[in-house]
Amino acid sequence: MLTGGGDCPGLNAVIRAVVRKGVDAYGDELIGFRDGWRGPLEDVYEELTIESTRGILPRGGTILGSSRTNIFKRPDGVDAVRATFERHALDGLIAIGGEDTLGAASRLSSEGLNVIGVPKTIDNDLGATDVTFGFDTALHVATEAIDRLHTTAESHHRNLVVEVMGRSAGWIALHSGLAGGADVILIPEMPFDIDEVCRLINRRHARGRYFAIIVVAEGATPKEGTMTVATGGVDEFGHPRLGGIGQQLEREIESRTGFETRTTVLGHTQRGGTPTAFDRVLATRLGLAAIDAAHEGQWGMMTALHATEIKLVALGDAVAEVRRVPVEEYERYGVLFG
Ligand code: F6P
Repeated sequence: MLTGGGDCPGLNAVIRAVVRKGVDAYGDELIGFRDGWRGPLEDVYEELTIESTRGILPRGGTILGSSRTNIFKRPDGVDAVRATFERHALDGLIAIGGEDTLGAASRLSSEGLNVIGVPKTIDNDLGATDVTFGFDTALHVATEAIDRLHTTAESHHRNLVVEVMGRSAGWIALHSGLAGGADVILIPEMPFDIDEVCRLINRRHARGRYFAIIVVAEGATPKEGTMTVATGGVDEFGHPRLGGIGQQLEREIESRTGFETRTTVLGHTQRGGTPTAFDRVLATRLGLAAIDAAHEGQWGMMTALHATEIKLVALGDAVAEVRRVPVEEYERYGVLFG
């Protein structure tokens, strides 16, 4: 097993479920690779037993560590992973990850290696599954923060910009913004018009509400030519390092409306800490299904939630495209803004 990409509450619940069922129901011997794809690349691993995985169900993060190592960026990456498979006489590998980790899993599967995927990401942006574990926890963290910011924003007659995670999909921003009653929600799927944002804030003031909560996904961008945005470096999968749109909005809103505006960046607090009950249960169900799938020889597949059932889908389908917020869905909520 390995866990790759950004960590996510619920990863340990998957590991525990795989080990419990693997050992007790199938008599498996299991190892966990350290730090995502770095583990099989460099053959860094630990044995996983019922003893070593006791007590991890409510723990956030991953006991295996994680990284954004990309095997396909190394000239001998696939060969090194194949050699690790042979050295340990592995029947197969369960890769728990998001778009990048599962993308690599899918490519390895086409290269003939036995791999099964389990989807995770707080961003909830993977195709072929209705929801990913980690999202519910992140949503609770963001909603609680918005609730707390509401009372202080109102007391000080300020606008508060809340920047949440979401590189290319705005699920956390949209759902936490709706749950927290935000006045403006900005998501990557819909480039925003700063004039419209300020119009909504000004209208609120005109109606006697002297504060506003603006929830912005880190990947949200202004409509071309309306506001300049700073950018950072990129990771091994070529994703830009984001963070900063909140502060840029703060400056722009304050200078255009004249109302005091401050920013809170929730950052990694959304990914840390104990998973919600929903995420623990979903992660456990996906883990149990993954070890069953391994014993059925369903290589190249990923466990997924379809309505209330756990199903198997082709890994390739899961990573074919990012699941973004449909524009009609976002627009439906416009009536609640301002
Ligand atoms: O993929 C999940 C995610 O939380 C994104 O929303 C965010 O852009 C990214 O991880 C941040 O990753 P890192 O911790 O590597 O900066």
